Amino acid sequence: MNTKSKTPSETAVEMRELVMPIHTNSLNTVFGGTVMGWIDVAAAMVCHRHCGKPVVTAHIDDIDFIAPIKMGYHVLIQASLNYVGRTSMIVGVKVTSENPYTGESRTTTKAYLTFVALDDLGRPIKVPELIPESEDEIRRFENAKKRVSMKKEVRNSMRNKGEK
Ligand SMILES: CC(C)(COP(=O)(O)OP(=O)(O)OC[C@H]1O[C@@H](n2cnc3c(N)ncnc32)[C@H](O)[C@@H]1OP(=O)(O)O)[C@@H](O)C(=O)NCCC(=O)NCCS
Repeated sequence: MNTKSKTPSETAVEMRELVMPIHTNSLNTVFGGTVMGWIDVAAAMVCHRHCGKPVVTAHIDDIDFIAPIKMGYHVLIQASLNYVGRTSMIVGVKVTSENPYTGESRTTTKAYLTFVALDDLGRPIKVPELIPESEDEIRRFENAKKRVSMKKEVRNSMRNKGEK
């Protein structure tokens, strides 16, 4: 088991894709589901690098599609760990599209995902501590911590009412 505490920059992931016809809809822009797939894969790799265990996506939160991504453009997917609980990890992902001929780039999508690390029997298992270092990392950590505690309250109250 990988128990060593890590900083967000030690496990951050950057992936690139080239938008091909297989990725696009009738508007010649990328399908939302394809972007979500890229985001999920990048975020899962961040969690693997942090905990060294199999992980599952438990929740996808606040996904914003800000701008479309055009056919032929390059796509940069940047993911890093914002927060860890006992067995869960929250990853922030930013997607940027780049015009390969002019170099012009813009943020197209942002999302937060929660993953849970699993043991050999598929049960949630404790993950290593996260050590946020920079001002941005500390801000993301504190924001995520607040959101986790608010969401836990909502989930528990829904469970108690038998709604989820
Ligand atoms: C994710 C999963 C393992 C959680 O199992 P569980 O029995 O609810 O486990 P627990 O109640 O012990 O919760 C484990 C952790 O997950 C977090 N969690 C569980 N459900 C969550 C949700 N919907 N949103 C955010 N966090 C969640 C809990 O807060 C807890 O975090 P902590 O240990 O850091 O405090 C289980 O729901 C599952 O297997 N889901 C299916 C996953 C899947 O198939 N994903 C798609 C393919 S990868």
